[in-house]
Amino acid sequence: MIVVTGATGTIGRALIGELGGAARAVVRRADQGEDLGEDLGCDYVVGDLERPESIPVEPGDRLFLNSAQWPGFVAAHRAVVDHAAAAGAAQVVTVSVRGVTSGSLLGFGMHGRVDDHLKASGVPWSILAPVGFMQNLAGDVDEEGRIFGSYGRGRVGYIDARDIAAVAAVLLTRPVGADATYELTGPAAYTHDEIAAELTRASGRTVRYVDLPVEEAAARLEKRGMPAPAARDLAELMAQIGDGRWASTTTTVSDLLGRRPRSLREFLG
Ligand SMILES: NC(=O)c1ccc[n+]([C@@H]2O[C@H](COP(=O)([O-])OP(=O)(O)OC[C@H]3O[C@@H](n4cnc5c(N)ncnc54)[C@H](OP(=O)(O)O)[C@@H]3O)[C@@H](O)[C@H]2O)c1
Repeated sequence: MIVVTGATGTIGRALIGELGGAARAVVRRADQGEDLGEDLGCDYVVGDLERPESIPVEPGDRLFLNSAQWPGFVAAHRAVVDHAAAAGAAQVVTVSVRGVTSGSLLGFGMHGRVDDHLKASGVPWSILAPVGFMQNLAGDVDEEGRIFGSYGRGRVGYIDARDIAAVAAVLLTRPVGADATYELTGPAAYTHDEIAAELTRASGRTVRYVDLPVEEAAARLEKRGMPAPAARDLAELMAQIGDGRWASTTTTVSDLLGRRPRSLREFLG
């Protein structure tokens, strides 16, 4: 059985679509519509990553471990990894972020700490390490058509989250291979000025990228309600991304899928 956590999320739903129903979804609440099973396209059980024993893993099962982040993310994901290892799971496939370590800022460091735990757990593992998702880009545009950031002219090879799901489906259905981290990107890397131009072309509404020094970006985030330390770290993280660490593209998606990942233009339509 392939057990899919984060099943109602962007990657989870796309993964279940790829698996064609050959999955068991884990959802937090059963009260999400008349017929959740039909909506998802597969069987489901109610479970919460904060209660590892509620995640149904049997010997030989393959687990897709993914969720949004919250303060208890590291403890919960580590406990679910331990639960899967103790239950005799054949494989854990999880979603991290490209290039992170346990010392990285904010959610990146959370992923690094979970990744370290998974690698030491004894259960066969595959870590998907994507860059930013194309799905986020339109949401970053404010009412006045501006995207703020501290990326400078650094390029980012944004990826369509559906391609991450397609990679996960391949890894979860072919024979379990060697433990590995898969760095996933789209087919090309863009500056945020170029992304703004693509959003303008696709939406017919002028979008422009406004680059801010880290201090100004942090102050802006703080004004919008983010606690000061997190605002500072997020602005710093954008500047780190702008230093080129996500500028190169990888061939991992096409190597595994036998087709190119979707381009930003294809994604925006
Ligand atoms: N966005 C990016 O650019 C980016 C880049 C690299 C990596 N990532 C990583 O991708 C992951 C998010 O993937 P996504 O975008 O597919 O997620 P998403 O769309 O935000 O969906 C989150 C899923 O997690 C579930 N969830 C949250 N807390 C849970 C809990 N305690 N127990 C069980 N399920 C829980 C949610 O369930 P409910 O429906 O019940 O809320 C939902 O199904 C994160 O780890 C993020 O760091 C994101």
